[in-house]
Amino acid sequence: MRDYYIAGNWKMHKTRSEAAELAKALTAQLKDGKHKYLVAPSFTLIETVAPIVKGSNIRLGAQNCAQDEQGAHTGEVSVLQLKDLGVETIILGHSERRHVYKEDDGLINKKVKLALSHGFEVILCIGELLEERDAGKAEAVCERQVVKGLEGVKDLSRVVLAYEPVWAIGTGKTATPEDADAIHAYVRQVVGRLYGNAEAEKIIIQYGGSVKPENAAQLMAKENIDGALVGGAALKADSFVPIAKF
Ligand code: 13P
Repeated sequence: MRDYYIAGNWKMHKTRSEAAELAKALTAQLKDGKHKYLVAPSFTLIETVAPIVKGSNIRLGAQNCAQDEQGAHTGEVSVLQLKDLGVETIILGHSERRHVYKEDDGLINKKVKLALSHGFEVILCIGELLEERDAGKAEAVCERQVVKGLEGVKDLSRVVLAYEPVWAIGTGKTATPEDADAIHAYVRQVVGRLYGNAEAEKIIIQYGGSVKPENAAQLMAKENIDGALVGGAALKADSFVPIAKF
């Protein structure tokens, strides 16, 4: 049986005091939570949030990392720096990284391999644009992003996938549980082809895109949906906690 994994991607929100307040509320209110949890604050907030979630059932995540360990990369943050702060998980290939900051599958693959080689858990995000869905290419796009994103990765034990249809992110439009489950099932098949059925059965595939307290339980009830990657609703304990305890 796969454990549910509910993650909050705080994106580019919050100051240190706001982040501390949210992290404190979450550790208190999720103490008795039964699933696996994560928060991914901005780089500048990680040092503030780290001691608050330390020893709790909430993992500490980052939203990105550089493709190289260190060097002349102005404006980037390295895996070594993230490790130093106690980060355990790195979200990679988020649609905002792919589409706004033009990260391609090759770059994302480099980051995935680097993060895994340093012992991090990776949440690899995949998902199609609206025009790709309308053109009947949703499965093919997700397949490509999984195949290329995981190229050269041998061990999936620290890899989580997150299906986030781009048209559902921050728009209030959630994929129906059936539509999301169909892509999750397809992606699981792709993983099975690449790594075998036992690995495909084990891998956690989160859904992301306008997850709210009102729709979390229906999404999680689907066979192939193993958790959520939550954006907007992760910014308040009042909305994240009911999702986390769906
Ligand atoms: P929203 O929950 O705001 O749609 O964001 C989803 C997301 O991109 C999480 O990574």
